[in-house]
Amino acid sequence: MFAASLLLAATSVSAGAIGCSGHHIGTRNHGMGNPHYTRAYDPATLDVAAQCVPYNYEPVASIINDFPPNWAPATLVAGDDEAAALFQELNQTLASKVGNVSIKVGTMGDFSGYQYDNAADPDCWWTRSRCTQPKDQTIPADIRQLPEPNTWGFGYDDGPNCSHNALYNFMAENKQLATMFFIGSNVMNWPLQAKRAKDDGHEMCIHTWSHSAMTTLTNEQAFAELYYTRAAIKAVTGVTPKCWRPPYGDVDNRIRVIAGFLNLTNILWSDDTFDWQEGTQNVTAETIKNNYQKVFDKAKNGEYNTHGAIVLNHESNNRTMQHMIDQYAQIKQNFKYIVPIASGMNWTTPYVETNETYPDFNQYISGQLVGGPVSSGSGNSPGSTMTGSGAAAASSAAAPSGSAKPSSATRTTAAGILVFVGAAAAMLI
Ligand SMILES: *[C@@H]1O[C@H](CO)[C@@H](O)[C@H](O)[C@H]1NC(C)=O
Ligand SMILES: *[C@@H]1O[C@H](CO)[C@@H](O)[C@H](O)[C@H]1NC(C)=O
Ligand SMILES: *[C@@H]1O[C@H](CO)[C@@H](O)[C@H](O)[C@H]1NC(C)=O
Ligand SMILES: *[C@@H]1O[C@H](CO)[C@@H](O)[C@H](O)[C@H]1NC(C)=O
Ligand SMILES: *[C@@H]1O[C@H](CO)[C@@H](O)[C@H](O)[C@H]1NC(C)=O
Ligand SMILES: *[C@@H]1O[C@H](CO)[C@@H](O)[C@H](O)[C@H]1NC(C)=O
Ligand SMILES: *[C@@H]1O[C@H](CO)[C@@H](O)[C@H](O)[C@H]1NC(C)=O
Ligand SMILES: *[C@@H]1O[C@H](CO)[C@@H](O)[C@H](O)[C@H]1NC(C)=O
Ligand SMILES: [Zn+2]
Repeated sequence: MFAASLLLAATSVSAGAIGCSGHHIGTRNHGMGNPHYTRAYDPATLDVAAQCVPYNYEPVASIINDFPPNWAPATLVAGDDEAAALFQELNQTLASKVGNVSIKVGTMGDFSGYQYDNAADPDCWWTRSRCTQPKDQTIPADIRQLPEPNTWGFGYDDGPNCSHNALYNFMAENKQLATMFFIGSNVMNWPLQAKRAKDDGHEMCIHTWSHSAMTTLTNEQAFAELYYTRAAIKAVTGVTPKCWRPPYGDVDNRIRVIAGFLNLTNILWSDDTFDWQEGTQNVTAETIKNNYQKVFDKAKNGEYNTHGAIVLNHESNNRTMQHMIDQYAQIKQNFKYIVPIASGMNWTTPYVETNETYPDFNQYISGQLVGGPVSSGSGNSPGSTMTGSGAAAASSAAAPSGSAKPSSATRTTAAGILVFVGAAAAMLI
């Protein structure tokens, strides 16, 4: 019995899903729920294969049937009355708010065959127009940059990856926090990795359940993708995120309304390292280095003298993580500050649990990595209408309906067009 399970352990780390345009992001943990898979979790282990050996983790094994199957577009779980009631409440508002927004047709962020009026852009569909500011003022705008100048907004998509210790150790050694956009299926497969991220002080955000293109999903699926990832992060790390990022950036007004109902603020990006592309077609490590250099050049040319960047990085695999480590000194040379999004936005209470606090910008840059005490109701959080100190500056970026700055920058600057062209090319891969 024991020998058989060991054999399984050696062979059962297998393919799951395909992530940001082609790379493999979905290694499953086949030990979950099987008590024979016992191993100690050691955050100091650096060997990639050893870190990805399956394990059982009873707190997740015991709730796994309350969640949708891993790595498939999520739907409401049969018998989950709470989720069903919440979806019904949302569903009643959707027809009147976004009933005209059609479900898009495409795969993995490639919508090349889909007919849509890009110029009129009725749905504020980022994938086609890079729109981040819906014309309908009742729909909140996306965040794509930070208010603080010379600042690199630091975040990772697609985690937790089973073999992330070298990266997390590196961040800990450098007293560096980041925003983690976690995939629900990965959280359920690798809960101890997710827990480490929260325990190390990183910010928790949502990157959907199955990494599908959200605008292609039904209302119920889109709701379930966010709802169950939120629940998975809560179950494993203890906090309920209020921020999310759509895979491939694929968001339109229908998806914004669904996420908004779950109190999730959408965080896009101003710059992309395209780190996940290495190994696809002719993309080499050198290409990725050049992509980083392009962001540094923007900083050198003054693009970030009046506001900060939000840069896209991936926790997808050993190479994407190693690139960040290799570039870290350069980032520090070219940007004054490297901050997690919550600190960059002064979100001192980033979660639904308002007793969990986060350092604000000034605290973070002075080396304080944990939030201070926040008297009840006084912390800023994603999507909140703020009053009090720092409110004006933070809200102009947090709720840009009062200020068109973030989206006009996307559409009109040469740099914005560069980002667009780069991303459009990537979609073809
Ligand atoms: C994590 O990274 C390792 C090492 O590059 C890779 O083999 C694996 O497929 C990744 N796992 C997941 C869950 O994406
Ligand atoms: C959602 O609303 C539509 C009408 O807009 C209705 O046809 C559908 O049955 C509703 N679904 C649920 C689960 O309530
Ligand atoms: C949907 O489109 C119709 C026809 O163009 C228009 O009359 C209606 O106001 C639109 N509804 C919404 C909610 O935008
Ligand atoms: C969203 O936040 C409001 C205000 O805190 C709360 O009443 C509501 O229950 C939240 N909605 C969801 C779906 O979590
Ligand atoms: C890869 O090759 C294609 C076709 O030859 C070329 O258009 C593209 O620019 C190359 N990409 C990189 C990153 O070198
Ligand atoms: C990538 O793998 C190599 C070889 O196993 C290892 O030395 C290195 O620390 C890993 N890097 C990261 C960021 O995991
Ligand atoms: C916040 O409150 C929850 C529930 O009471 C508790 O489990 C958690 O430890 C608290 N967190 C902090 C940082 O005090
Ligand atoms: C963040 O809060 C600090 C006060 O701690 C304030 O000086 C700063 O202007 C705020 N930044 C933003 C962008 O609101
Ligand atoms: Zn992703």
